[in-house]
Amino acid sequence: MKKIQNKYKVLVNESLCPQYWHMVFDAQELAAEVRPGQFVHIRCDEEGLQPFFRRPFSVYRAQKYVEIFYAQVGRGTKLLSLKKKGDMVDVLGPLGTPFEMPPQSTKQVILIAGGIGVAPMLILSDVLKKKKCELVLLYGARSRDCVYPMKEFKDNGVKVHVATEDGSVGVRGRVSVLFDKIEKDPARTFIYTCGPNPMLKAVQTFAVKHNILGQVACEEMMACGLGACLGCAIETKNGYKTVCHDGPAFNLDEVIFH
Ligand SMILES: Cc1cc2nc3c(=O)[nH]c(=O)nc-3n(C[C@H](O)[C@H](O)[C@H](O)COP(=O)(O)OP(=O)(O)OC[C@H]3O[C@@H](n4cnc5c(N)ncnc54)[C@H](O)[C@@H]3O)c2cc1C
Ligand code: FES
Repeated sequence: MKKIQNKYKVLVNESLCPQYWHMVFDAQELAAEVRPGQFVHIRCDEEGLQPFFRRPFSVYRAQKYVEIFYAQVGRGTKLLSLKKKGDMVDVLGPLGTPFEMPPQSTKQVILIAGGIGVAPMLILSDVLKKKKCELVLLYGARSRDCVYPMKEFKDNGVKVHVATEDGSVGVRGRVSVLFDKIEKDPARTFIYTCGPNPMLKAVQTFAVKHNILGQVACEEMMACGLGACLGCAIETKNGYKTVCHDGPAFNLDEVIFH
């Protein structure tokens, strides 16, 4: 997988719901290289150095173009949200270790996402839909503001279940209220998850209890994004590992969530 750094033209940058934005850039050479779970590192400030470091974003989709799905949380993502169609963005990628594919015996793949943690799941469903297994997305969010139609998932044949903490959409509660959708058969079920650490810990506890294997996409504040500064190291059962180089994808039972 070669890494590419280039400036790409923004084709789409739109808000899909009050909290989340969808950006598409014309990066066809990059799209051909990306695998599910990898990320791109984006320079958000073209004019100056605020923020100084690039910001990491999971690739949401990589078909003809590269797509990201993001929440506006600080200066970098605010600047990103101001980009207009035709503007250029400086992108480095694809970076990081992608998700492993599920074993051949898998009959049910469960995607468990909390909030913007849904970002690496669409590209994963684009690949997994070619396998003959049931695809289920369990999506947990704070409220209606974080829920969007998820049409692309449904078009991929993914059964989507939503839980919101305030009950404004779907079932009331955290995403764990949807765990009854998971077939508790270790030989047939495989989990992929991404989201806030308390949610990941709950998913891990559930998976370990039922001996179900899976992969997790971790997030950590990043600087270099290339495995050089060790700024994104996390604790695992096999010692400290970098999210940007050893991850973002890890075995679900390997990571120690604090
Ligand atoms: C591998 C990876 C993939 C990611 N994919 C996505 C994605 O697809 N969509 C998306 O919206 N975001 C994603 N993120 C998080 C995203 O990189 C941050 O939200 C972004 O860097 C914030 O930049 P900012 O300048 O807007 O905010 P800052 O001013 O840097 O931070 C604003 C607030 O957000 C917190 N914050 C910043 N980065 C993180 C982080 N990584 N984890 C937890 N809290 C953080 C800060 O502590 C601060 O409170 C990903 C992060 C990683 C490491
Ligand atoms: S951000 Fe530098 S090692 Fe990961």
